[in-house]
This record gives sequence, C-alpha cells and structure tokens, in this order.
Amino acid sequence: MIPDHIIDEVRDRADIVEIIGESVSLKKAGREFKANCPFHDEKTPSFYVVPHKGFYKCFGCGKAGSVFDFLMERQGMDFVEAVKYVAARSGIEIQEVSGRKPEEDPNRPYYEITAFAQNWFRNQLLDERVGQDARTYLESRGIDAEVAERFELGYAPDEWRAFREAAVKHGLEEQLMLELGLLKQSERSKEPYDGFRGRVMFPIKGVSGRVVAFGGRILETTSGDGPKYINSPETPIYHKGRNLYGLSRAKNPIRRDGQALIVEGYMDAVSIAAVGFENVVAPLGTALTPEQAQLLSRYTKRVLLLYDSDRAGLKATFKAGDVLLESGVHPSVVTFPEGEDPDTYVRAHGPDGLSALLKDSMDVMDRKLQILGDKSYFSSIDRRRSAVDRLLPTLRAVIDPTLRDLYVDRVSKATGVQPGTLLEDMKKVPRPTSRSLGSRPDESSRVGHAPSLKGGAERHLLKVMVRGIEWVERAAEVISSEDFEDPYHRAIFQALLDDPEARVPLPSMDSVAAQRFREILVDPEELAHGNEIFSKAVKRIRVAALHRRAKHLQAKIERSRSEKEKLELVIEKSHLAAEIRELDENYWVSAARRSPDDKNLNEAKT
Ligand code: UTP
Ligand code: MN
Repeated sequence: MIPDHIIDEVRDRADIVEIIGESVSLKKAGREFKANCPFHDEKTPSFYVVPHKGFYKCFGCGKAGSVFDFLMERQGMDFVEAVKYVAARSGIEIQEVSGRKPEEDPNRPYYEITAFAQNWFRNQLLDERVGQDARTYLESRGIDAEVAERFELGYAPDEWRAFREAAVKHGLEEQLMLELGLLKQSERSKEPYDGFRGRVMFPIKGVSGRVVAFGGRILETTSGDGPKYINSPETPIYHKGRNLYGLSRAKNPIRRDGQALIVEGYMDAVSIAAVGFENVVAPLGTALTPEQAQLLSRYTKRVLLLYDSDRAGLKATFKAGDVLLESGVHPSVVTFPEGEDPDTYVRAHGPDGLSALLKDSMDVMDRKLQILGDKSYFSSIDRRRSAVDRLLPTLRAVIDPTLRDLYVDRVSKATGVQPGTLLEDMKKVPRPTSRSLGSRPDESSRVGHAPSLKGGAERHLLKVMVRGIEWVERAAEVISSEDFEDPYHRAIFQALLDDPEARVPLPSMDSVAAQRFREILVDPEELAHGNEIFSKAVKRIRVAALHRRAKHLQAKIERSRSEKEKLELVIEKSHLAAEIRELDENYWVSAARRSPDDKNLNEAKT
C-alpha cells in the first residue's frame, strides 16, 4: 500500500506532458498541449494536456483524467503500477511494505491490449454511424446510453478487420491479440481477422479492476449465424473458472448488503444492476466453479441464486448450491415464473417486483425438499429412500457445522429417517474435495504423477505474495486455495487473501501452518526475478492442480456404475485435458516472447 500523501506528492510533482508525450506527440498550444486523441480516431486534434492543472481531456470522446488515469487507460497499468511508474520518473522513492524495488508486470502487454480494445469498442458504440444498430439493439433491451456507459459496454462492428486495423495502427502485437482471442486466424484466411464481429461487448474485469477478457453478444442484425455469445479464451490473464463477471464493481455493494446475487449471464447482471441491484455477479458461460465460490466467499457468506426456472436452470441452481455450500457459503434460491429470467422479470415488474421476489427466496435445502415434496417423494418408503439419496450430496457438501445440523434436522423431519442414520450415510462417500486441515490426504495426491515440485512452487508463490498487497491481488486473480496441494500452504494462502498485510500467523491457524508462515516471512525469496518466479510458480501450481483433478475424475469414472454419469465425467475430464494443454501452450508462447534465449531458439527452429 502506498500512503495517500505520497500519492499526492507523486501526482503534484509529475511532469504530465513528458509522460503523456512518451506515447502521444504533443504540440504546444498556449499554456496547453494538444494532439490527435490516442483514445479515438480523429483527423484534427481535440486531445488537450493541461500541465498547470495536471490533467488531460479530449473534447472529442470525453476521456479525461490525471496522469495516473492516462497510464491505466492507455497502458493497461493498475493504479499502484501507475503511481510507481510516475514516481520513478520524478525521482520519488516509494517505500513498499516489503521495501523492495517495484518490477514490471510481464503481463502488461496483454493488459495494454485489453485496455485499448475496451476503449476502441466503446468508441464504436458511441460513434454516430457505426454504433447505431448496436445502440438501437441495446435500447430495445432497456439499456440506454447512460447504463451502457456505466457498464463500459462497447460494440465490435460487423466487419472483418476493423479492430485489427486500428490495433495494428496503434502498435499492438498481432501475436498477442491472437492469444487473447481478439484476433483469429484460419487456414483459409492467412490474414488474421477480428474475433468479435457485430457484437455488443461486455468487458470482463479481474478483481483489481483491469479488463482481462470480453464477452460479446450477437445483434439480431448481424450477418451469419454465430453463437449468441462469444467469450474470450483462457489466457495468461484470464481463467474463466476463476473470474466472476461484475465482481470488481459488485464487491463493495456485496459487502455493504451482506449478500451477493448470482445470475446466469451478462445481460441479467447488467439489467438488474442498472436498476439498483448492484451486488450482482455472473459466472462466465460455465457452471459455477469451486474457485468462483471460493472467490465470492471472500466477500460474503450469503448468496441468492437467480437462475432460470426450467429444468436446466434448476439443475444448474442445485449444482451451484452444492458448490457454494462446499465453500462455506449459504445459498438461497429465487424462483422466477417459467420462461422468465432476471432481465425479463425486472423489465416487466420493475425493481420493486424483483425485490419482492428476492424476499421470497428460499434456503437451498428447503427448496429441494419442496420440489421433492411436490413430486410426492415422501409418500412411500421406497421413494423416501431415493429422496434421501438425492439429498445426500447436498448434506455432504455443507462445511458450516451449524448449517449442517440444521439440514440434517430438516431432512430427517421430511423423510422420517433418523438424524444418526443420515450422519452415517453422509460418511459413506467422502466429500469430493477435502478442504479442512488434518483430513484424509487427498486421494489423488497419493496416486498422482503430477509435476513433483509441489512444495517448491507453492512455497515460492507464498514468498512472493508476502512482498505486498499487489502480489496478493495478482495471485488471487489466477490461483485459488483449492489449487494448493499442501493443506498448510493452502491455509497460509487463504490467510493472505483474507488479510494481504498479515505478517503474523492468525491465532486460529494450525500450529504447523503458523510455523511455515513464520519461515516464509523471515526467509523472503531474494527476488530480482519476482515476476518470473511468480509466473512459473502459478503455472506449476495450476497444472499440478489440474492433474490432480484429472486423477480424481478418473477414479470416479472407474467407480461409477451409471453410464450417463460416466459419460458426463469423461466429458469433464476431456475439458480438463484441454485446459492443461491450453495452459502449457499459452505459457510456452508467452515465455518464448519474454525470454531472449527462448526466442532465439524458437527462431532457429523455424
Ligand atoms: P442465456 O442463453 O440464458 O442468455 O445464456 P441470456 O443471458 O438470457 O442472454 P439474452 O437475454 O438472450 O441476451 C446465459 C449465459 O450463458 C453464456 C453467457 O455467459 C450467457 O450470458 N452463453 C450463452 C455463452 O457463453 N454462449 C452462448 O452461446 C450462450
Ligand atoms: Mn435473457
């Protein structure tokens, strides 16, 4: 953390003309400087830098701000990076918590691209002519200009290479844009083309607020018949299973309200946040993952699920419910009339209508019991047995002891099965993921052939993380505690997420974990290469975690007696394998780009 007075001093002493002048060619105009705006296309300059006031403003597109804003918007830096960058240029020394020199983030080039892209998409939406269809479409969905601006929506025009041209002109690297999915390339078309065409663009941000990916919804007027939504692929800066759409904006409202709303997609999130339900997030085109649940549990332990009420929606609801319970979160279910989603519902019934529906939300277990009751599952002994079987996974998922007692009690009352019997049944199959310290060792780790430097990579990452809050935030964006194999490391990681500035073990910490934490604190990694260690450790930990999950799935596949379940598991496993491959490739590509040695090698080969 940088103290406020230092930030003020850095801002006051910054030479804004020099810093903006590094990437924009400024011409003196009286007391000000002007240039063609770097944020939108123009022929005559309307971008002004006002040195005596310390800000810039474009009278064409409206972009304005301080020297820090410029670096964040234009270079994709986060706030802390921007402050350090400026400080370094005005000879101000910033004492970090850990007292070490700041370093460049190796992912900066990616963030630079996503920042540019967001800006460009936004300008297309605002463009009188280009953005017209998109604006009409958004308005037809109740999203006016103000809301679009608030959620930083954009538009990717229905052309093959409009984005590419602008980005290349801006000096961005095609290879990186291909990695980010903003450009695509096919066998037939040797020339890369735009990955998003004729779509409303939803920027996806990481927890620290930087754009990491995009979702694009097709307009009804767009030619061809692509999928309704296209999402960015997995990249070094984006892991869809670890991000929640809207979280960076929703985290404070979630803390304030003491609960979060989960909806199924972008439109639902924007649509209800726009009318005041700001504590809303959405998973990104997949079922809610344990990582996402864990992430959310950092902000609240209460969640309302606002999914469709059809069969698929209900299935997704209960699956998400179990995942949340496993993270110690207490989920409730909001039920929409058949055929409606949160978006259509607020449009038809207004915010008050939705509020009323939220008030009627039902605890996830109660809702399950209600549905089973409606289907008369409690009317015969046989059916009761099968009802219990359906409820057991949820009972097993609960890690909160109070909630578990409550659920056992309710299930017992509904089914007539003794609580003791239920508790016995719950023990029969282990919980899918063992989280608590001192529990059985994860069965996958016994068989695993996963990369073996487990302790090494995990320890290294923790050592980097204790250097300062920005490292903790960076780690939080790409790793979750689930990924740690060593339960003590996992506990330390969790403690740092809860309090990035923790420099003593928590009293509640297990004594082994506490001891390890002390060792990590007194023996900081001597980090001339913090970034490299960080990236390598993250990759190793993630790959190892994926391998463990694959092992675990394999064991489940072998155990499973239902063909249907088997098939689902096999599909899940193939997704995992793809994720591992992708991770390896992406990191390989970026490593080749970063390390001069690798690059030479690479070129020698081709
Ligand atoms: P839905 O099909 O329920 O769409 O997909 P929606 O959110 O109601 O959108 P509108 O109202 O038709 O515009 C829910 C979520 O599933 C993912 C997206 O994240 C979407 O928000 N999805 C859906 C995809 O990733 N790809 C698709 O082709 C469709
Ligand atoms: Mn919808």
